[in-house]
Amino acid sequence: MAQEDIFKKIVAHCKEYGFVFQSSEIYDGLSAVYDYAQNGVELKNNIKKYWWDSMVKLNENIVGIDSAIFMHPETWKASGHVGAFSDPLIDNKDSKKRYRADVLVEDYIGKLEDKIEKEVVKGRKKFAEGFDEEQFRATNVNILRNKTKIDDINSRFVAALEADNLEEVRQVIIDLGIVCPVSGTANWTEVRQFNLMFDTKLGSVADDANTIYLRPETAQGIFVNYLNVQKTGRMKLPFGIAQIGKAFRNEIVARQFIFRMREFEQMEMQFFVRPGEEMEWYNKWMDTRLKWHKALGFDQDNYRFHKHEKLAHYANAASDIEFRFPFGFKEVEGIHSRTDFDLSQHQKHSGKKLQYFDPELNKSYVPYVIETSIGVDRMFLLTMAAAYDEEVVEGGETRVVLRIPPALAPVKLAILPLTKKDGMPEKAREIMKTMQMDFNCQYEEKDSIGKRYRRQDAIGTPYCITVDHQTLEDNTVTLRDRDTMQQERVAIADLFNIVNNKVSMRNLFEQIL
Ligand code: GAP
Repeated sequence: MAQEDIFKKIVAHCKEYGFVFQSSEIYDGLSAVYDYAQNGVELKNNIKKYWWDSMVKLNENIVGIDSAIFMHPETWKASGHVGAFSDPLIDNKDSKKRYRADVLVEDYIGKLEDKIEKEVVKGRKKFAEGFDEEQFRATNVNILRNKTKIDDINSRFVAALEADNLEEVRQVIIDLGIVCPVSGTANWTEVRQFNLMFDTKLGSVADDANTIYLRPETAQGIFVNYLNVQKTGRMKLPFGIAQIGKAFRNEIVARQFIFRMREFEQMEMQFFVRPGEEMEWYNKWMDTRLKWHKALGFDQDNYRFHKHEKLAHYANAASDIEFRFPFGFKEVEGIHSRTDFDLSQHQKHSGKKLQYFDPELNKSYVPYVIETSIGVDRMFLLTMAAAYDEEVVEGGETRVVLRIPPALAPVKLAILPLTKKDGMPEKAREIMKTMQMDFNCQYEEKDSIGKRYRRQDAIGTPYCITVDHQTLEDNTVTLRDRDTMQQERVAIADLFNIVNNKVSMRNLFEQIL
């Protein structure tokens, strides 16, 4: 099936099975804003818990905070967002469609990268056992030609963006022959910069002094609290501050469902280190974060790092963890070496010292920062995309199953009486009462048992138990596994341990420690 069709199916599945709804749908929706439904919110909370615990619970030197969305307007001048948080936009005059100039060029480069990967696949087939990928990449003429092309485009485009030379940015697009996917023409307007921050008014007097912004990243709430946390927590370098919260960006080209939203959620951790040690920590956090992703057990080949050519105004190194979504490899998380830019800027703008006294070096300095920043919603989309599976089962029927890692699954256990009579519902309710204290459980008695299994497969429930006649005699139930569909008879007394072993986050944490 084409990847585009799979993506459409995932989006439809999200709605049909109560994961994600369009915001204000009864009013025809609000573009790039979404609501999480009954199953979606459970999955989202589990993703957040996996991240939070892996940061705050498993690291003695990382603590969490929850700062306000509104911040003093000077924050955003200091951070550079008022001056520089903008996207270069270009319009196609024929289709009247608007694009981000950098995304047009990135997509073009993406196609060249795909050509390189196809060449590698061809080589692997041709040379079979004796295939040396490293040597092949370093010598194949087609790969080398495309690599040079990518490097040339990157250096020209990055230079144009860094010099804020918008005419040159447009010229790159024209020289590469990039056309509008809708009209098919290269009839482009000038490129303009567009600030992405939403603003609103604080208080009742509508003048400029009261303009405040909805935060475009959660990171600044951490920076302005750096000294408060360091002092009250008696934190010693290196240490980290983690936060999960909403962020808002007036994205111009909002695409691909919850991949690019105007209101979204971030999980960010700022790790404060000694100046000069930042590269060591940058590399360490890249490894740690990739492990966190890979522990979920999805196809390991679907992850890769992408090093930033054009660095944000605050960074001296940056890489993304990219995942192969149905629409191609795209960023899920960024790891940034932010130097002392943010703390120094806040020190300058606030007039308050934000330094750390290092007892070992016997001197004070502004710490450097390594940031890990991941979008909750993008992680949610990754999970849905990686977990969605259609499988032909006995009898030729196709079942849709979400192979969500059990620790993240919205519902852990479905409790199903075989029929609605003979005391089975009562027994099932009794089990439900004890199990729901530890796990999110669902009780279902409507429809055939087969239909109920399918409904649970479709929301990714790892286990279903069926209460039948034998249960009433010997206190055992049948336990059905979502992935294998195998059933076994187990004692009710053993249920807690069986389910707990399957769904515990420990299964994930053990792989990342
Ligand atoms: N504090 C650094 C920062 O905000 P970023 O690369 O702009 O860096 C970090 O964003 C992460 O936030 C991204 O990797 C992505 O997962 C998520 N993100 C950013 N913009 C988003 C949007 N419009 N919709 C959904 N997620 C977004």
